[in-house]
Amino acid sequence: MEFRHLAEAPAQADLDVLALCTFGDPSKDALFKELDKALGGALTETAKAESFEGKPQQVLTFFTGGDIPARRVVVVGAGPRAEFSLASMRDVTALVAAAAGRVSASQVGFVVPQIGRDPTHVTQLAVEGAVLGTYKFTKYLSTDDARKPSSIKVFGLYGDPKGKKGTPAQTKQVKGAIERGEVIAAAICKARDLINEPAAAMTPEQMAAEATAIADKHKTLSVKVLGPGECDELGMGMFLAVGRGSDAEPRLIHLVYKPSKKAKRKVALIGKGITFDSGGYSLKPSQAMEDMKVDMSGAAAVIAAMDAIASLGSEVEVHAIAACCENLISGRAYKLGDVLRSMDGTTVEINNTDAEGRLTLGDAITYARTKIQPDEIYDFATLTGACMVALGPYTAGVLSDDDRMVKGLLDSAERAGEDMWRLPLNGRLREQLKSNVADMRNTGDRYGGAITAGLFLKTFAKDTPWVHVDIAGPASLTSPRPSQPRGGTGFGVATIVEHLTKR
Ligand code: BES
Ligand code: MN
Ligand code: ZN
Repeated sequence: MEFRHLAEAPAQADLDVLALCTFGDPSKDALFKELDKALGGALTETAKAESFEGKPQQVLTFFTGGDIPARRVVVVGAGPRAEFSLASMRDVTALVAAAAGRVSASQVGFVVPQIGRDPTHVTQLAVEGAVLGTYKFTKYLSTDDARKPSSIKVFGLYGDPKGKKGTPAQTKQVKGAIERGEVIAAAICKARDLINEPAAAMTPEQMAAEATAIADKHKTLSVKVLGPGECDELGMGMFLAVGRGSDAEPRLIHLVYKPSKKAKRKVALIGKGITFDSGGYSLKPSQAMEDMKVDMSGAAAVIAAMDAIASLGSEVEVHAIAACCENLISGRAYKLGDVLRSMDGTTVEINNTDAEGRLTLGDAITYARTKIQPDEIYDFATLTGACMVALGPYTAGVLSDDDRMVKGLLDSAERAGEDMWRLPLNGRLREQLKSNVADMRNTGDRYGGAITAGLFLKTFAKDTPWVHVDIAGPASLTSPRPSQPRGGTGFGVATIVEHLTKR
């Protein structure tokens, strides 16, 4: 799919699909009215007949029969203006792309709505939505029909409903926004591919190969992969214990982005990389285990984001770290009651082998803190079902004691169209992590599970400014939205890139 900036009158454009969105009642939209007039009122008639009221996710496809040069008009409902967010922008173009695909359209033109936000940024999200909406994980489908890519060859974007040309400076900005949208969407799709791949294929070793392939694409990226021997030398007793039950060897992946000029600051991104989470001896019931190949979504997000960061460039030195392993059962697996020694010397009693993510992340955080000494650490992890219970399937939980970092990240998430919400890192719950035989234990009670997990991680971040993002809900969806089909979503990529690169 090629994206183009279009500047001509949409009503005169020769397209397979001319698409627009209306905020509620289409008869109040100027372009809709203009097209309706050119079509002799048939557009309004059809909208009425099909009860199209511009509500979210409503789609009207109208065959023009040659009354205007475009073969079809597609109108997507955007709902009330006041409720429209940048995330909804992605869904609108995802619906446009889907409707265009259904009629095998090749040339599509979309009129980017004016929503009172930076129009170039809106254009960027429109591009992302069109790509993300046509994403399919088809690798294991054997029929040609199922594997067929979208019919869309050109997806054009009108910055102005009358097709007025902008200034050369504006045109340049829009082109930049289109490129940025393409780069970010590609990184999100890459993360989705890594997540959707079965655990049998996406082993820790394969994760390392994927990271290496990304590093090889960019001069500014380098990669270091540590095996079990090197991790043992570093004393990563928690990380290695979790992976011990599997025949697949663990890998600690460390990607580095170095800016061409001297870096302004150093940031470490850490992703949870459990390639399959059976729960270990605290075995998950089958239904809860079914989707646990997605437990490396944090790792997928930070690794894929590095691809986009390197393409777009950043003033920040960025490190992505993923401690990847499988949480399985065997004669060698770690057990309840075991006491583990972490890389920073803290001893941890295991009272639940299914709380494995915090163990791997704890050592990854110590690795980052001591080997990289970053100004800030962000971790992204499918960490707790409790976070999902609290916030639902679409919203990530943000936990940190650093107000400034939280504010900055939540701002970036909003601009990136990703839902994040802060949860309190309430220190009173720390008492739940007390152990009689070790410095602490790895799980607390049922209530406040997302918080005690955050408090566990904070132990290892110490005084390094740190934010934890629990993506257990949004990392993978069973009920899809237009821009996010079922399965891995690539959640986190857009926020990371928004946060660490300049527009
Ligand atoms: N990977 C899971 C969390 C998860 C649940 C991710 C659902 C995605 C969807 C994590 O390792 C886990 O098992 N957490 C336990 C923690 C508990 C034992 C304290 C949980 O949430 O039940
Ligand atoms: Mn688990
Ligand atoms: Zn897990």
